[in-house]
Amino acid sequence: MERQNFNTGNQKMVTLLMGSPRRNGSTRLLLNEAERALHDKGISTQGIFLDELTIHDCRGCHQCKTENNSRCTVQDDMQQVYRMMESSGGLIIAAPVYFGYVPAMTKAWLDRLVPYLGTDLSPRFPVHCPVSFIFVQNMPDPTLFEPALQSFAGWVAKTGMSVGEIMIATDCESGVKPPVSERPELMEEAYAIGTNLLG
Ligand SMILES: Cc1cc2nc3c(=O)[nH]c(=O)nc-3n(C[C@H](O)[C@H](O)[C@H](O)COP(=O)(O)O)c2cc1C
Repeated sequence: MERQNFNTGNQKMVTLLMGSPRRNGSTRLLLNEAERALHDKGISTQGIFLDELTIHDCRGCHQCKTENNSRCTVQDDMQQVYRMMESSGGLIIAAPVYFGYVPAMTKAWLDRLVPYLGTDLSPRFPVHCPVSFIFVQNMPDPTLFEPALQSFAGWVAKTGMSVGEIMIATDCESGVKPPVSERPELMEEAYAIGTNLLG
C-alpha cells in the first residue's frame, strides 16, 4: 500500500485504513489485494497506517456538539484523517481481530468519529462515502467474533457512511499458517471488496 495516483477521471480517491500494526501480515496482504482491484479499475488510493499516527482517545469534551462547531478540537493526527476521509470517494478499513474485536488504535479511530454523530445518533458524515471492511482472525470459525465485528461496522454506518461488504478472513496467522497469498479464496474475496466498493 503506497500513495499512488492512478486516477483517470473525476472519481475521488479511496482511502485505505490499515489497522494492523504488522507491516506485512495477513491484513496488509488482503488490503493490498483490494487496492490492486481499485487500481485495476483506474481508481486511485491513499493509505493510512493507524499505527504510525498519534490518535488520542476521544476526551468526551462535547466540543463537537456545540452550536457553532461540529468539528473535533483535539489537535492530533486525526485531523488529517478527517480531511482524508471527507475528501474520499470510499473507504476500506482493514484490521486484525484482537481479543474478539479490533485493535486499540482502530477503536480509538472509531471513537473519534463522534463528530459525525448527532446527540440523537443522527448521521452527520458530510459526503457520500461507501465503506467496506476486511477483518482477519486466527480462529477458523467465522461466527465467533462476527457480532462484535458487525457492531463495529454498524457504528461506522451510523455516521452516515454506507456499509458495503464485510469480509472476515479466518484461520490466518502469519508465519505459522499458510500465508493468505497462498489462499486463493481469500485473495479473491479481498479483490472483490476493491472491485465492488464504488459499484
Ligand atoms: C493481541 C492479539 C490478540 C488476538 N486476539 C485474537 C482473537 O481474539 N481471535 C482470533 O481469532 N485471533 C486473535 N489474534 C490473532 C490475529 O487476529 C491474527 O494473527 C491476524 O491474522 C493478525 O493479522 P496481521 O497478520 O495482519 O497482524 C490476536 C493476535 C494478537 C497479537
